[in-house]
Amino acid sequence: MFKSIEWCGDSVRFIDQTKLPLEETYIQSHDYRVIAEAIRKLKIRGAPLIGIASAYGVAVAAIHSGEKNYQSFSHEIQNVIKEFASTRPTAVNLFWALKRMENILSVPADIDAVIKSLTGEAVRIHREDEEMCRKIGENGQKLIPQSAVILTHCNTGALATGGEGTAQSVITTAYRLGKSIKVYADETRPLLQGARLTTWELMKLGIDVTLITDSMAAFLMQQKKIDLVITGSDRIAINGDAANKIGTYSLAVNAKHHGVPFYIAAPTSTIDPSIASGKNIPIEERHADEVVQGFGKRTAPDGVKVYSPAFDITPSTLITAIITDLKVYHPPFDFSRAPSSSFKV
Ligand code: MRU
Repeated sequence: MFKSIEWCGDSVRFIDQTKLPLEETYIQSHDYRVIAEAIRKLKIRGAPLIGIASAYGVAVAAIHSGEKNYQSFSHEIQNVIKEFASTRPTAVNLFWALKRMENILSVPADIDAVIKSLTGEAVRIHREDEEMCRKIGENGQKLIPQSAVILTHCNTGALATGGEGTAQSVITTAYRLGKSIKVYADETRPLLQGARLTTWELMKLGIDVTLITDSMAAFLMQQKKIDLVITGSDRIAINGDAANKIGTYSLAVNAKHHGVPFYIAAPTSTIDPSIASGKNIPIEERHADEVVQGFGKRTAPDGVKVYSPAFDITPSTLITAIITDLKVYHPPFDFSRAPSSSFKV
């Protein structure tokens, strides 16, 4: 089985997700800028994974800093943290992980000891995510009937996390427990995380998966082909509104209309107790090229105006339950006392 990311002592090794499913290529680097650029370009992607990668990136920068004076060292690493914080704005897991790294830096000590602590914290963030994925799977599988046809969106598997995934961990756990599972994977325009990554992962696992384009989902629900929808999330507000890959909101609207349960699965690091509702979640906008010539061939006229929000907000009123590593939450949601993940740059 592949590893989405791996700590190699003083460098990081990760799979280049932009090359999948055609090539399984790995990049190893001890330059934090390579890791930050990989996050920007979606070579490393998925809310929990970008948190883990940025923590490793900070550790790598600390190890290779060469500064002997604590103040200068701390200043340099603060700037590295800012650099990672500027890579992608929506997934709060990134800021959650960076905050943990920043907390260590804020206690002046011997530089070597701080480097050791930063490295230890990054590895811990990775291991904790692996464990959270396992618990999400355990908690979530209880909602999956003995025989289920599941619709999912984007990629929420091992490629997107430090473990088995979020929504996908629910699917794989149910499958491993002997449930009869069939998955429809949305293609996930414009960057095709569903087509390229989710089908690749599920086929490797031997899970029955069928690819559809995003616009086919409502028709399948109308035909009563879908028992439940489950997706991940990049940030959950106090009231349960959830940001996720663009297209998730329309799935939730369609699910409500057709009486299909709609679940979100996410680790507690995805909950943002500093944000009251979805309207305060920053939504990343991506470059027009991803829409008009995403994979080489131009598909729209030169000079056409493009708007490309990478995420949307599903209002909590459309969510049947939110599955986390701690427990399954049912409406009305109130995450005001969730572990703090607020981090502002
Ligand atoms: O732009 P991406 O591919 O990083 O978006 C990922 C998603 O939207 C996932 O559904 C989300 O991170 C939650 S599950 C890991």
